[in-house]
Amino acid sequence: MNAPRSAPTRPDADLIRTLEAADYHPLWDRYKRITPVAPRSRDLPMHWRWREFEPLAERAAKEVPIEDVERRALIMTNPAFGGDTVTTSNLIGAFTILEPGDHAVPHRHTAAAIRFATRAEGAVTIVNGRRCEMRDGDLVLTPPWCWHGHINESDRRTYWFDAANMPLVCGLEANFFEPGRRDDAKFWDVDEGDERLYRAAGLAPASDPPRPAHSPKYRYPGEETRRVLAALAPGADGARTLRYVHPQTGGPVMPTLDCYAMRLAAGATTQPVRATWNAIVLVVAGEGRSTVGERTFEWARHDVFTVPHWTWAAHTASGGSADLFLVTDRAVYEALDLARVERQ
Ligand SMILES: [Fe+2]
Repeated sequence: MNAPRSAPTRPDADLIRTLEAADYHPLWDRYKRITPVAPRSRDLPMHWRWREFEPLAERAAKEVPIEDVERRALIMTNPAFGGDTVTTSNLIGAFTILEPGDHAVPHRHTAAAIRFATRAEGAVTIVNGRRCEMRDGDLVLTPPWCWHGHINESDRRTYWFDAANMPLVCGLEANFFEPGRRDDAKFWDVDEGDERLYRAAGLAPASDPPRPAHSPKYRYPGEETRRVLAALAPGADGARTLRYVHPQTGGPVMPTLDCYAMRLAAGATTQPVRATWNAIVLVVAGEGRSTVGERTFEWARHDVFTVPHWTWAAHTASGGSADLFLVTDRAVYEALDLARVERQ
């Protein structure tokens, strides 16, 4: 952070220059910058439309062999971050494109990530030796330091939505990465394994070793999400909202990524809300409109938009109900006692 240029007329100007030269900053001339009265997001809300994305994905699929790049993903990037690969503070959102037969090389990293299956029927993600199918609306976790790889076993191109917290982990300078081997046949030759232990909601092994920080269940089937959303009564804000939870704790699925499914009733606008955490929103089904800060987005299926921290947001489905998937860093703010919400 650059120090402000001291006004030449202020009586302490000479002292401030002397302090700065000696690597001290006086608090008194800059405390409003150091402790602003409320958070100010660097980024304005942004919207990426599926219909504009698809031709770019088509080019990437045709021009870039998976063998050359390991992962064929296109990351949604907000220019407010000065060219850094950031979608909104702490988070990145992307789509991965796999051609039939493509293998994405196994690897692991300390950043946390999730996949949400949009057009991914026939794709599979292997997480720590468990085969996780990617059917419509499935959420698959790839928690920190878990080995993972992807394959498209279908005869069509597959797409899914990814999100991860690389900007947060890079900011904390805690990023580690370990590549696996493309030719490791044993990596791919697995079944669902211990994923079976967490298949039924509300049941988890009592004899499990100490609870991991992240959910031991990696795959959350879309079919179940839709079933529970349909049964749920609307909340105070008018939407039906589910949190994906760690089956042993009831808390967020990971300490740094916290995911939600929201169903909007046709024509009803949700109560405007703002929060200290950040969200990337994927339109799972339906059409509608969101007002985020000063911007209004008209969205359709598989569009993505951001709700940067401390920005008012309200959503309306048009023509029928609509389903949204939200990936947030809320759990980070809760753990640090920084979570705050306001409603209009
Ligand atoms: Fe990864």
